[in-house]
Amino acid sequence: MYAKFHSIGAYVPSKVLSNADLEKMVDTSDEWILKRTGISERRIAKDGENTSDMATKASKLAIERAGLDISEIDLVVCATVTPDYFNMPATACIISDKLGIKNVQAFDISSACSGFVYALSIAKAFVESGMKKHVLIIGAEKFSSIVDYTDRTTCILFGDGAGAAVISATQNKEEAFIDVHASADGSYSDFLMTPAPGTVNPVSQKVVDEGLNFVQMKGNETFKLAVKTLTKDVKDILAVNKISSDDIPHFIPHQANYRIIKAVGDSLKMKEEQVVVTVGKYGNTSAASIPMAINDIWESGRLKKGELMLLDTFGGGLTWASALLPFAGESK
Ligand code: UT7
Repeated sequence: MYAKFHSIGAYVPSKVLSNADLEKMVDTSDEWILKRTGISERRIAKDGENTSDMATKASKLAIERAGLDISEIDLVVCATVTPDYFNMPATACIISDKLGIKNVQAFDISSACSGFVYALSIAKAFVESGMKKHVLIIGAEKFSSIVDYTDRTTCILFGDGAGAAVISATQNKEEAFIDVHASADGSYSDFLMTPAPGTVNPVSQKVVDEGLNFVQMKGNETFKLAVKTLTKDVKDILAVNKISSDDIPHFIPHQANYRIIKAVGDSLKMKEEQVVVTVGKYGNTSAASIPMAINDIWESGRLKKGELMLLDTFGGGLTWASALLPFAGESK
């Protein structure tokens, strides 16, 4: 049994937070943000619009586009670091309930920006082992809930959104995943973190006073490691599978910073039209970034059935992952 990437869906909140808006909130400028990150605007979920709400909308589309009935989904995996509730229940359980999926295994994974590709590796293993047939994987984030909008080094980067895909069983090797690599190095855990809430810093007055619930990032150090790791990771997966970067019509890297995307694309000698860039309009949406980007090129008609995708991601943990696979759904 093989696993195939059966369908894609996404949800983008309607509220736009532009660089001009941020200029009124912190000491920054449109020019600085654009030059250093390539970001013009990002989307922000409404009050009361939670991670599970965005994820449910993206999932409905993915299931519908796979031509499946809700009752055929037999596993739900949600990748998020901004769950509806920090301890329990898992956001995947809430999404299942909102979708009307009953009595099906559902759990969250916490791999920050690498979450969607990590979820892909989990779905692949479940499907190839014959344990599940149609796995719903989701990357969804309400990052605005953990961003300190007085910190100019982080608030300019992040946005909200959700993406979902159905990974299904197939016996046709032509449409199967080629390879997925996923890895981590916890010695860099302080590069990108939210210090609270958790067992190290349970909720307390100190947490509130010191803003320990907000995301903290060693931006420049993370940037350098991201370029190095993302480049090595894709070079490795291409070499192992004896595929040239020229043969990849869609290189879909994590959307953290345009300068990172450009540096990785250039070192792979990718042409501009091979590299998918959505960071300018969505910012960094963490686990949602890759599925939102895949959805964008599918909806615009750029991603066609059978075409190869190379996914490459990097994030808190630190974690990183890459995947090489054809899009096995119908073209738009
Ligand atoms: O998703 C997971 C992976 N995430 C990433 O890979 C993110 C990686 N990091 C980055 O994207 C970049 O490091 C940033 C965009 C966060 C920062 O860009 P940078 O080129 O690394 O800038 P920097 O941190 O070295 O700061 C340069 C200067 C500093 O001022 P001084 O010390 O030179 O006077 C900062 O204080 O820019 C200043 N600065 C800003 N100025 C205007 C930092 N943030 C801002 C801002 N507006 N928003």
